[in-house]
Amino acid sequence: MSADGKIADVSRTAARFGSPHDKAHLEHLVAEADGVLLGAGTLRAYGTTLRVATPELLKQRQQQGKPPQPVQIVCSRSAMLDPRLPFFRQPVPRWLLTISEGARQWQEGEHFERILVAGTNSEAIDWVAALQQLKAYGLNHLAVLGGGTLVASLLEAGLLDELHLTICPLLLGGDRAPTPIDGSGLTTALAPRLQLLNVRAIDDEVFLHYRVGKF
Ligand SMILES: NC(=O)c1ccc[n+]([C@@H]2O[C@H](COP(=O)([O-])OP(=O)(O)OC[C@H]3O[C@@H](n4cnc5c(N)ncnc54)[C@H](OP(=O)(O)O)[C@@H]3O)[C@@H](O)[C@H]2O)c1
Repeated sequence: MSADGKIADVSRTAARFGSPHDKAHLEHLVAEADGVLLGAGTLRAYGTTLRVATPELLKQRQQQGKPPQPVQIVCSRSAMLDPRLPFFRQPVPRWLLTISEGARQWQEGEHFERILVAGTNSEAIDWVAALQQLKAYGLNHLAVLGGGTLVASLLEAGLLDELHLTICPLLLGGDRAPTPIDGSGLTTALAPRLQLLNVRAIDDEVFLHYRVGKF
């Protein structure tokens, strides 16, 4: 995010302001995961996801008995996604996590290897049911790539354990620019508290690692 707490500018396009260090840090975290959750808004903005490409990280996964890539799990209520996005041509396993209405328009196979349905109404994904399904498929360690809407719904459900934030040296401003946690917001009294696990500065960027307290 920018130093003023925005994860993209007001045009809500893909955020590409992180340094190569930040990208390597993110790839490292992705490489530790069994599955990566990304919101439909993030996929629409970027068109792609971040896959593991560094030979050492691929080797590390192999030594740990893991498949080369974590599963990329797109979270979407509507499941309205353009099948021509480059994401669908990336060499990664792709799953869709949606509700029953969203699942109707996709068949398992070419675009998504697996379609998980967690929630039967037109509301939100039932996260507890979703995480139980993912665990049953052997996905224990999940990384959430964003954006702010998806992260907010997981936080509000009390399902985030840790938070990694990189503060990048720019200021974006704008009251419509997305932030790490969007959604409807929490009151100060209800806000989960964070415990700082690690902080590192490289050049002009600060890498923060927090444990998220339960609330
Ligand atoms: N700087 C960074 O590191 C970073 C990282 C990620 C994203 N971003 C930026 O963030 C912006 C996108 O964020 P965003 O908040 O608009 O989108 P988002 O969180 O990526 O995706 C929001 C969408 O995900 C689905 N979703 C989220 N929570 C859900 C729930 N509880 N149940 C069912 N579906 C749910 C919905 O999809 P449907 O609408 O399809 O139902 C919702 O519209 C972009 O500007 C992107 O560049 C920045």
